[in-house]
Amino acid sequence: MILVAGGAGYIGSHLVKELVEKEEVLVLDNLSTGHLESVDERATFIQADIGDFNHLDTIFSEYPIRAVMHFAASSLVGESVIDPKKYYANNVGATLNLLNVMVKHRVGRMIFSSTAATYGTPNIEYIDESVPLNPINPYGKSKRMIEEILEDYAKAYDFRFVSLRYFNAAGAHESSVIGESHEPETHLIPIVLEQLAGFREKVSIFGTNYDTPDGTCIRDYIHVTDLANAHILALDNLLSSDSKSAIFNLGNGQGYSVREIIETCEKVTGLQCIVENCEKRPGDPARLVASARKIEQVFGWKAEHNLEEIIESAWNWHREKRF
Ligand code: UFG
Repeated sequence: MILVAGGAGYIGSHLVKELVEKEEVLVLDNLSTGHLESVDERATFIQADIGDFNHLDTIFSEYPIRAVMHFAASSLVGESVIDPKKYYANNVGATLNLLNVMVKHRVGRMIFSSTAATYGTPNIEYIDESVPLNPINPYGKSKRMIEEILEDYAKAYDFRFVSLRYFNAAGAHESSVIGESHEPETHLIPIVLEQLAGFREKVSIFGTNYDTPDGTCIRDYIHVTDLANAHILALDNLLSSDSKSAIFNLGNGQGYSVREIIETCEKVTGLQCIVENCEKRPGDPARLVASARKIEQVFGWKAEHNLEEIIESAWNWHREKRF
């Protein structure tokens, strides 16, 4: 059985939908931001907080857990600057608790959700895993801290991990049953789609004089199902007897500016977006684009969805479920 912590959240629920096809899955989620209805009904669900040692201890005693996939975290850069204690408690403190229960029960395999925010603001076209880490906000720092802890646990115990550094996850499941739903929403693609559907007055473009061709920030958007599939490959590999701990970027390797995202949303929907140019959002790097060559070489993974497909899937889900 595979334990998925945070399996009711956006990325976790998409992973669970793929994983139940081949494994017994136990989902833990405290439902602070996740949605119970997003959890595939083939999975076993327990409402639990990974910071609760005794509850986890009981769960690990009751279920034959072989590995943990860990998505349970707070993940908003801006919020982490305003409320760092929440980020260090949820992302570092609670994860450490989970790790210690794993060690106690000799469950020595973890897939960890990390982030491009661990790199900070590297002035480089394509970020590979050798780029020095210099996170500039508590969110990125909290994720890097756990990577360091994982490295130490892997040296000391019978413990191996794969850390996946996501760039910008987007899109929805092809069934349109689950998709991206945050409250409040802060991510660009859902915000643009909400505006196009008439649920927002306008889209604020945060910064128009960055050192990029059109002055707006460039990001690397990756379809959430491509992300999920990378996790499955990483898990298969991690469970093999000769696996090694490793860290991989997960992105498409292609950058799109905020304006290009808005234009592509307009093209996909046939609607016109109302925008306003605004001040920069603190902590936003001008460009974050992955080199995903390492995971391609090691696991043979490649993103299968392009930007239009990402936006199409998000639009289909929004229309079916939310509007
Ligand atoms: N943006 C706008 N207007 C909006 C919302 C966003 O202009 O209303 C811009 C942002 O300034 C940024 C880009 O659109 O330049 C993307 O912003 P998102 O909020 O969608 O995503 P981020 O790049 O800030 O963050 C995401 C994840 C983080 C992760 C990061 C790593 O949410 O968890 O990618 O690249 F750390």
